[in-house]
Amino acid sequence: MTIDSFKALRVHFSKDSYEARIENLTQDDLNEGDTLIEVHYSSINYKDALAVTGKGKILKNSPLTPGIDSAGVVVESKNPSIKIGEHVAITGCNQGEVYNGGYSQYTRFDSKHIIPLEKSLSLKEAMIFGTAGFTAALCIDRMEDNGQTPDMGPIVVTGATGGVGSFAVSMLAGLGYEVIAVSGKKDKVDYLKELGASKVSSLEELSLDSGPLCKARFGGAIDNIGGDALASLMAHTNLWGNIACVGLAASHKLDATVMPMILRGVSLLGISSNNTPDQRRRKIWQRLATDLKPKNLDLIHSHTISLEEVKKYSEKVLNRQTSGRILVDLKS
Ligand SMILES: NC(=O)c1ccc[n+]([C@@H]2O[C@H](COP(=O)([O-])OP(=O)(O)OC[C@H]3O[C@@H](n4cnc5c(N)ncnc54)[C@H](OP(=O)(O)O)[C@@H]3O)[C@@H](O)[C@H]2O)c1
Repeated sequence: MTIDSFKALRVHFSKDSYEARIENLTQDDLNEGDTLIEVHYSSINYKDALAVTGKGKILKNSPLTPGIDSAGVVVESKNPSIKIGEHVAITGCNQGEVYNGGYSQYTRFDSKHIIPLEKSLSLKEAMIFGTAGFTAALCIDRMEDNGQTPDMGPIVVTGATGGVGSFAVSMLAGLGYEVIAVSGKKDKVDYLKELGASKVSSLEELSLDSGPLCKARFGGAIDNIGGDALASLMAHTNLWGNIACVGLAASHKLDATVMPMILRGVSLLGISSNNTPDQRRRKIWQRLATDLKPKNLDLIHSHTISLEEVKKYSEKVLNRQTSGRILVDLKS
């Protein structure tokens, strides 16, 4: 199949310049790979916002198309197990970092990283999840594998109105956990309660102590912000509780002691959605289509934008002016 020309958001950078602009590309500009996909939707994750604005060193090559998520329809396939017309998604796998990503009307990728979607998941739903939903599910899957149960106490979710945070609140509540949502947005209390949080508080209202071992108040946590909050959450976690370490929205630093680990058996679980082994990746997508699919997906989906609006919304994400998930509609 020959495609004459299509639109993509391209970032060009050098040591002293950075520019993101919409361009018309041809098939020669795509990645190498055995599967060509017409992209219908992508999304904006925190990492994408850093890549588009140049505020984080995310992109490894120039020029490159950002967008760590994409979902669309297969138009060409050299792998017999991936059929033309099949609905598929790609999240992470260095897409939008090393390889061209989802802010493009077409993408070519290696089929070993491509997820054929369950019939119960539409392309739009797959991108409402995107890396954010996948990551929240991965956190829960790892915590459960390591013995987390609802009777160990409430789970704290920081950065709760963000993409990962919103899904974490909703999925945990759906599994019967008591959830404490921690957010800096005072006007989002109703939103977080509707997602299933039993309590919503600011970090200050949570009144975390700063010692090496503090009163055990929580069963565990999904932490999107890092820094002092993460260290304090570890010190407040109950016997054998798990903390999924996801993000660095506040800080990449961690100044903690070993006390919670050696005296309470607390586990700090590393989460790297980008590098999830393909077998686990497929398991997580199956759970997203079944037991972890939130009833309130529409509530978490906040905006659908065009490719032309990606730059503006990336700034908003970094300025903490958004919540939930922003979809990019490549067919608009
Ligand atoms: N490890 C992985 O595999 C993985 C995968 C996906 C994302 N991440 C990371 O996880 C984090 C969340 O990603 P996302 O895509 O969900 O981002 P997002 O939608 O932009 O949400 C981030 C949330 O963090 C909170 N926040 C932002 N700046 C903050 C600050 N300075 N101090 C405290 N809280 C702050 C805000 O929540 P409130 O306003 O509600 O407080 C914001 O909504 C990011 O750091 C991202 O890089 C990691």
